[in-house]
Amino acid sequence: MTTLVSTEPVLRASGIEKSYRRGVWPARRTVPVLRGADLALRAGEVVGLVGENGSGKSTLMKVLVGALRPDAGSVTVHGRLGHCPQEPVVYERLTCDEHFELFGRAYRMTVDAERAARRDLYRALGFERYTGTRADRLSGGTLAKLNLGLALLADPDVLLLDEPYAGFDWDTYLRFWDLVAHRRAAGRAVLVISHFVADEERFDRVVALRDGRTAPR
Ligand SMILES: Nc1ncnc2c1ncn2[C@@H]1O[C@H](COP(=O)(O)OP(=O)(O)OP(=O)(O)O)[C@@H](O)[C@H]1O
Ligand SMILES: [Mg+2]
Repeated sequence: MTTLVSTEPVLRASGIEKSYRRGVWPARRTVPVLRGADLALRAGEVVGLVGENGSGKSTLMKVLVGALRPDAGSVTVHGRLGHCPQEPVVYERLTCDEHFELFGRAYRMTVDAERAARRDLYRALGFERYTGTRADRLSGGTLAKLNLGLALLADPDVLLLDEPYAGFDWDTYLRFWDLVAHRRAAGRAVLVISHFVADEERFDRVVALRDGRTAPR
């Protein structure tokens, strides 16, 4: 892990532009979604990203993790990234345990470190009962726990979470915020896409995406 001066962002995005193409020729057109969005995340900071449906929050997050190439702009990251996508990306035939094993290997974790992290995540999110259940047999909420658990597994320096608790029950929702508080105290940076005004007090600051640009709120 890189040692940083505390004021230097662990993630910085500047001037991000992204358009999607819609329709088929000859009615094909380009729809701009991001028009110069900027964002900086510092260690130990929990930031909310808000904006109406279709404003480009998920698009921006995909650009930040490198899953989507922007048309313009730059992203710099110090350290490891974890991403919890809005739509869980899982292998339907693999069990929860098998997912953690696979991701642990991809993150080059030792077997012991992966098992310890996995055990903590099962307990913290309360889905120990499903260790041996295939992903395609999980309920929506448990699938969301697996999706989040995989993002948290390697304890990334920068956590990017796209509506991580949409399917959670109240108890799990509270456990989620406990997990975030622990990561924050450990100096991790966390960006959470949220729709709930009630969450706003849980963030150090909130960034709003509107007309393709970001502004403090
Ligand atoms: N792969 C794609 N191809 C074409 N258009 C897309 C694609 N992905 C997203 N869009 C469009 O880009 C815009 C922004 O989508 P995005 O998913 O980033 O919004 P969002 O802010 O995350 O919305 P929500 O709150 O509903 O999750 C929308 O108009 C959407 O229809
Ligand atoms: Mg979205």
